[in-house]
Amino acid sequence: MLRIEERRGLSGDVSVPGDKSISHRAVMFGAIAQGTTRVEGFLPGADCLSTIDCFRKMGVPIRQHGPTSIEVEGNGWEGMKEPEAVLDVGNSGTTIRLMLGILAGRPFHTIVTGDDSIARRPMDRVAKPLRRMGARVEGRAEGSYTPLSIRGGGLKGITYPSPVASAQVKSCLLLAGLQAEGRTRVEEPSLSRDHTERMLTAFGVRVNRDLDGVSVEGGQTLQARDVRVPGDISSAAFLMVAALITPESQITIRNVGLNPTRDGIVDVLREMGGDIQVTPKGEWCGEPVGDLTVTYSRLKGVEIGGKMIPRLIDEIPVLAVAATQAEGQTVIRDAAELKVKETDRIHITAQELRKLGARVEETDDGMVIEGPVQLTGNRCNSHGDHRIGMAAAVAGLVAEGGVTVDQADAIDVSFPGFEALLSEL
Ligand code: S3P
Repeated sequence: MLRIEERRGLSGDVSVPGDKSISHRAVMFGAIAQGTTRVEGFLPGADCLSTIDCFRKMGVPIRQHGPTSIEVEGNGWEGMKEPEAVLDVGNSGTTIRLMLGILAGRPFHTIVTGDDSIARRPMDRVAKPLRRMGARVEGRAEGSYTPLSIRGGGLKGITYPSPVASAQVKSCLLLAGLQAEGRTRVEEPSLSRDHTERMLTAFGVRVNRDLDGVSVEGGQTLQARDVRVPGDISSAAFLMVAALITPESQITIRNVGLNPTRDGIVDVLREMGGDIQVTPKGEWCGEPVGDLTVTYSRLKGVEIGGKMIPRLIDEIPVLAVAATQAEGQTVIRDAAELKVKETDRIHITAQELRKLGARVEETDDGMVIEGPVQLTGNRCNSHGDHRIGMAAAVAGLVAEGGVTVDQADAIDVSFPGFEALLSEL
């Protein structure tokens, strides 16, 4: 349980934990690379710890020198061994979908499962194209849901026009493609986060990008290298919204990852009238990094959809909180993907915010939110979804009487120390 009281004047100079997407990739790419990959700024959240656990079970030595400092001893593709136990990804969609791409090329058998939320999330989006490449993937409902079993090897490259803009699908197929005969190409309806393309390049892989797709030639190996992980913009987003809606606030968040496929939240909050100053700090392992200074602002409603959605998909629950405090209507369209996240985030965001008196209407592919509304205190529930838990907590800062968040332990999935950091501010 987490208790948040109504507040004024958040202030401080903080940093957020490492980027979740980049931390997963650093472990996985380190595991299949030749040599030692040292990772600094690793996110010790439950999801990334699941990734470490799975690769250890496949015989990859991974040493943790401290919560955020790890070393992965890669021995190339062949360094991975058939695991004796079932691989459990916990709550992590990124772990299961990217790992399936690696397993698709490995000549052994693996069973992969996860928690109740993973069991409801579609795996056919990766299982189907992997089967087309030649992997044997089976599971519940014709191989659509966990537990999944996979036997890899003998892959052939394909061209895959993905029906969804999903970095997990794209990354899965590129990782399989590196082990396939010939070329593998993934096309997507709009550009999803490109951490895989950037990090593979940094690990010495040739990745070809063009306007509507990305491709790799099979038979390539990765060379280990050091990775410094930027702060997670998806975690920073909770603090950004907290400062924007809490009167008299000004905070600085240091070393946040500002990859242009991820920073849609900065653009949209600015369009809403939010005062966000960005100080660029260069690139870490091919990823742009900067400091953000965020000052309380009077916000106005905004309409978003189309290509913007993949650039802020994980930030929509907290964007909805900002919208409850903005003058006028906020319309979010083209975001049906939210229904297959850790929870149905359209339904659950609307349901939890309504408990606080917010005016939120669910649509087929998004939400319509009317503001500004003086929120009133109540009990909310994360439903086991880290981002819902944190969004409810941020709403608590402007809710008369404060908010209690039940099942708040889910927050550890991506933002260990969230409560302490919020108290510090
Ligand atoms: C992620 C991709 C996104 C995102 C998730 C992390 C990744 O999912 O929502 O939190 O690390 O590749 P999709 O690929 O399903 O859009």
